[in-house]
Amino acid sequence: MEKLDLVLDRGVRIVASGLGPLPLEISRRIHDKGGLYVGMTGDPRHVERHLESEVDIIVAQGMEAGGHVGKISTFCLVPQVVDRAGDVPVLAAGGVAGGRHLAAALALGAQGVWTGSIWLTTRETDVPEPVVQKLLRASSTDAVVTRVPSGKTSRQLRTPFLDAWEEDGAPKPLPAPLQGMLVNEARRAIVEHDVVDVMGTAVGQVVGMMDRVKSSRDVVYQMVEEYVAVLEMFVRSAELEATSDR
Ligand SMILES: Cc1cc2nc3c(=O)[nH]c(=O)nc-3n(C[C@H](O)[C@H](O)[C@H](O)COP(=O)(O)O)c2cc1C
Repeated sequence: MEKLDLVLDRGVRIVASGLGPLPLEISRRIHDKGGLYVGMTGDPRHVERHLESEVDIIVAQGMEAGGHVGKISTFCLVPQVVDRAGDVPVLAAGGVAGGRHLAAALALGAQGVWTGSIWLTTRETDVPEPVVQKLLRASSTDAVVTRVPSGKTSRQLRTPFLDAWEEDGAPKPLPAPLQGMLVNEARRAIVEHDVVDVMGTAVGQVVGMMDRVKSSRDVVYQMVEEYVAVLEMFVRSAELEATSDR
């Protein structure tokens, strides 16, 4: 609670919980300080508990996302979450890179999208340059689900470090939080000493669409432009249908 107060008193206005609904006393403290509480879910069965914790926005994050993931794809997850969320707005996450995804998310009933991976190869990224280059070369199948970094399933860029845990005779990752305690020092050292070969990052399947460095501004503008192009296509086909009915 002390840490939360510290953050909220510094002016942070959105607190997102990625690993389950927050206890009521915490979500109420966020609200008391004028903040919004965002709850992330990868399973429609968890929506009720998010609502009980007085969530303001639900992020429905599919298994194609970067970072900790569940087992349900965005396309199947979002409508199920929307149907259970009542008046609480839902944002679709997992695999969103452009305006076609935004249009699809809105068609599924979401109010908007929540993105992560796409920013890793922007000009403003803090990802080390060799990892950016790996991301630009990677395809969607290089974004693998593993328990190595934390003990919970998360989608990460495939590296020889992750592969080593898959070899015959390799130990199984420990449950969270023990696995994190086991590997964190090694992961920090890999970055500190620039061991490029085994450097990686959390990233989603959308990495297959990240093939050049863009400014964040261009990512947003291209998303809007692509979205408008989809809407125009819908309008044109509706007009064609109307003419053929005459
Ligand atoms: C490098 C990286 C780090 C992330 N760290 C967190 C985190 O600490 N907490 C969290 O709730 N989600 C985290 N996420 C998940 C994002 O919030 C978001 O839901 C996800 O990236 C959306 O899917 P996408 O990667 O396909 O855009 C992370 C994602 C990435 C790519």
